[in-house]
Amino acid sequence: MTKEQILEALKNVQDPDLKKDLVTLNMIQDIAIDGKKVKFTLVLTTPACPLKDFLKKQCKDAILKQVDPYAEVEIELSSQVTTARKQTEELLKDVKNIIAVGSGKGGVGKSTVAVNLAVALANTGAKVGLMDADIYGPSIPIMFGLQKEPPHMVERDGKTWIMPVEKFGLKVLSIGFFVDQSKALIWRGPMISSALKQLLTEAIWGELDYMVIDLPPGTGDIPLTLIQNFPLTGAIIVSTPQEMALADVRKAADMFNTDTIRIPILGLVENMSYFVPPDMPEKKYYIFGESGCTKLAKELSIPLLGQIPIVTAISEAGDKGSPIATDKKSLVTRAFAEVAETVAQQVAIQNAINESLGVK
Ligand SMILES: Nc1ncnc2c1ncn2[C@@H]1O[C@H](COP(=O)(O)OP(=O)(O)O)[C@@H](O)[C@H]1O
Ligand SMILES: [Mg+2]
Repeated sequence: MTKEQILEALKNVQDPDLKKDLVTLNMIQDIAIDGKKVKFTLVLTTPACPLKDFLKKQCKDAILKQVDPYAEVEIELSSQVTTARKQTEELLKDVKNIIAVGSGKGGVGKSTVAVNLAVALANTGAKVGLMDADIYGPSIPIMFGLQKEPPHMVERDGKTWIMPVEKFGLKVLSIGFFVDQSKALIWRGPMISSALKQLLTEAIWGELDYMVIDLPPGTGDIPLTLIQNFPLTGAIIVSTPQEMALADVRKAADMFNTDTIRIPILGLVENMSYFVPPDMPEKKYYIFGESGCTKLAKELSIPLLGQIPIVTAISEAGDKGSPIATDKKSLVTRAFAEVAETVAQQVAIQNAINESLGVK
């Protein structure tokens, strides 16, 4: 066997999302051949790649079929998270992907989804930051149990910097650490936007694969100002399945897509989709109907990124200061892991689209 034969065979394996073969995508590296043994590294676009096992099998089959039916194939997985950030952008330049989580209205579980998505991404090994920009109701201090541990300040190069708090394997900051909420409520868009900009530019975030931003709810001036100011990779909209909530999702989708703003919508997350009785974890009751968000996602031509059940453990975990996705045994953790996979997948697709359009 030769390296060339292996590459030739792997040219026939396509990444179904990126619609190109793995060799062209530069995803095959460090090929080593020793007799019947062939070993290489498959470099994925995210450690949260839901196609890992599929791609591994396709590679193996291609080599057995086209090179040697007796080859012993060993594939190591690694990842290099992609980015479409422009090199000229100064704001958060070491952050590869910035994902905003928005909602048509409050109380649908936007913060719950933002926080657990960030934890689930970090669980895969990605470098993750979480920024709570919800001026109306910052939730990270409580959900992370940080009310009594605000971030430290450090002096560096004659300047004072904010150190994001590290907990559960990710870095977090909340507007709630710095701003008295009763005062913030009367603030206007530009003031909020400059306070948040400070959290982004005067904090030492370091290199991140993903930064998740919990936006203020709704489609008013403040979320809009923020959307315009963050160099976003894309947005996620959270909704519950009731008709009333769905009407607001359309407005949220419009907010990301106006004449002047074009932020790719990565998809819709349906929260409180179904009820799972604690004593019958195999049962699912779709108390608000089964197809609400599925239909709407189709209508808006955006992916449905996942469905999260309604279970008391989610709100209890939030109140206790350790998000549910930190509990490896919880069934809900699996649901959030799936959301993380589909989000990371959509980000990779978006970055590939931007690259082919020459946005760099
Ligand atoms: N899937 C769920 N199951 C049970 N409780 C939930 C779920 N999602 C959110 N909650 C609870 O509902 C309340 C509102 O959620 P939150 O994430 O704060 O919403 P938002 O940020 O949209 O205002 C919180 O008390 C939260 O714990
Ligand atoms: Mg919230």
